[in-house]
Amino acid sequence: MKFSKSIITGGAGFIGSNLADHLIRIGHKVIVLDNFVSGKKSNLSHHKKKNLKIFKIDISKNKNLDQYFKGADYVFHLAGLAEIIPSIKNPRKYFINNAIGTLKVVQAAKKAKIKKLIYAASSSCYGNTKSFPTSEKEKIDLKHPYAATKFIGEEIVMSYALSFGMPNISLRFFNVYGPRLNTSGQYSAVIGNFLKQTKNKKPLTVVGDGKQTRDFIHVDDLSEAFIKIIKSKLVNKIYNLGSGKKTSINSIAKLFGGKKKYVPLRPGEPKHSLANISKIKKDINWRPKISIKEGISNLKKANFY
Ligand SMILES: NC(=O)c1ccc[n+]([C@@H]2O[C@H](COP(=O)([O-])OP(=O)(O)OC[C@H]3O[C@@H](n4cnc5c(N)ncnc54)[C@H](O)[C@@H]3O)[C@@H](O)[C@H]2O)c1
Repeated sequence: MKFSKSIITGGAGFIGSNLADHLIRIGHKVIVLDNFVSGKKSNLSHHKKKNLKIFKIDISKNKNLDQYFKGADYVFHLAGLAEIIPSIKNPRKYFINNAIGTLKVVQAAKKAKIKKLIYAASSSCYGNTKSFPTSEKEKIDLKHPYAATKFIGEEIVMSYALSFGMPNISLRFFNVYGPRLNTSGQYSAVIGNFLKQTKNKKPLTVVGDGKQTRDFIHVDDLSEAFIKIIKSKLVNKIYNLGSGKKTSINSIAKLFGGKKKYVPLRPGEPKHSLANISKIKKDINWRPKISIKEGISNLKKANFY
């Protein structure tokens, strides 16, 4: 029996390691390419060696990327530096890592004649839009180097689809959360911060007045969408990938419970973010299943006990 072979760049990170679980569950052999700048081996340690191979490489610097891509069916390109403030402090590092890194991955995938490449784009490309829910047709408004590097990556992926008929799809993730969410970084996302603070019995740091809203999507719903995309015939498309529901930071804090501490707003972050997900729902017959209440409750249980 022929197994599908999937490459996950950034597969030791939060989203990549969850995706690896889903792919292995449906019988794929997974190859992870990661430099462990934020990913962890422990995120993947529950897998058997026959299902998963890990290579410690930097996709933006490695000179022999092609060798890892030989015989691959699918490529999920998730490797990237993913924080806003560090991208403002060191834009060059972000451009090399995220934009050049993407170019190298796309070139290697092209040579290997893969069946589908999925790129992890970001809703940060919509900047401070006032149009909600935001559709893929909304204008691009890049507010910081992180957003710019992720968008350039998308342009590379789509230009290879257009010029060379590569079977590429770009998914613009909104706020993804779930098990193994990064809680260590100084600038980690709100749910990661709240998890860490609750565990350490510290007050929850709410940015601004907490009335900002975000579109939170559970990583299991996200992974299901990935799998439906690779099973589909879709190519050369861009999709929003969110829950289509808005949740305020204050209501997330309420789901966690406990004391709150208000801290100043951070630069470049929009007041609201909400995905219009009609396009992906229609094209792959997918819908998010995990409510934010259920998702947070499961995370709290997993983190505390
Ligand atoms: N988490 C979100 O809400 C969100 C939203 C929009 C887009 N994204 C994108 O999704 C992707 C995955 O995000 P995540 O939340 O899992 O972050 P993460 O930091 O947990 O995962 C990123 C992984 O990429 C690896 N990596 C970074 N640069 C690399 C390089 N040059 N070579 C090899 N490996 C490298 C890291 O070690 C890490 O394992 C990122 O590209 C991010 O920009 C995430």
